[in-house]
Amino acid sequence: MLNLVIFGPPGCGKGTQSARIAKKYGLMHLSSGDLLRTEIEKGSKLGMQVNHYIERGLLVPDGIILRKVYKNAIGLINSAGIIFDGFPRTLIQAVMLDRFLKKKSIKLNMVIHMLVDRGELFRRLTGRAEDSGRVDDTEQIFRVRMRVYEKQTHCLKEYYSDQKKILQVSGMAPVEDVSAKIAHAIDHYREKNEVFSNVI
Ligand code: AP5
Repeated sequence: MLNLVIFGPPGCGKGTQSARIAKKYGLMHLSSGDLLRTEIEKGSKLGMQVNHYIERGLLVPDGIILRKVYKNAIGLINSAGIIFDGFPRTLIQAVMLDRFLKKKSIKLNMVIHMLVDRGELFRRLTGRAEDSGRVDDTEQIFRVRMRVYEKQTHCLKEYYSDQKKILQVSGMAPVEDVSAKIAHAIDHYREKNEVFSNVI
């Protein structure tokens, strides 16, 4: 299996790149944000619960996320691999993911950390807001999501750097160029079992 995590600030291109990587390497794309939005669309009890957090730009509590992601990940364990998009997002989620994978005798191979300037993030999300229909794509909620990212998620960089799994990717280039850089790093990892230490 090839198991990857992709994380970065709102609008950095996690979803876009995950879909492309999943297609190229035959991986399953597991997006925590999409799982939650599906619940909201269904109007389920869980959907109503999580909407309270999403519409405010806050993180959904770890317990809810962990249950939802595990439930979906279990069904994907016999696949070619999983790309976790937007999960983990807190240190607790990262520790719990490590435990979950260890229990299943599965390795997390690489963690892709996307780097994009704040101004560009804002341009992308306000651009997307016109047709995304997402309640959290507003200027005010974007600011909250950025603060939440810096306070609760950015610390994953250190956690995964310590594990020598982090690949830092500048996401400022056009979509295809970013995908090509990530693919190059994945191919290098598969060949040499080594993650690039410089920003690509
Ligand atoms: P989530 O859905 O994960 O949202 P996010 O992290 O804010 O990220 P986005 O989906 O907005 O952006 P992205 O980085 O995927 O970029 P995209 O490819 O779409 O989470 C939403 C909410 O759910 C959270 O706020 C939280 O409440 C909750 N949640 C989810 N996971 C959770 C967890 N683990 N724990 C707790 N709560 C959780 O691209 C954005 C735009 O830019 C698009 O229009 C795209 O076309 C464009 N674009 C992409 N790449 C490029 C490029 N290279 N050049 C130009 N444009 C580009």
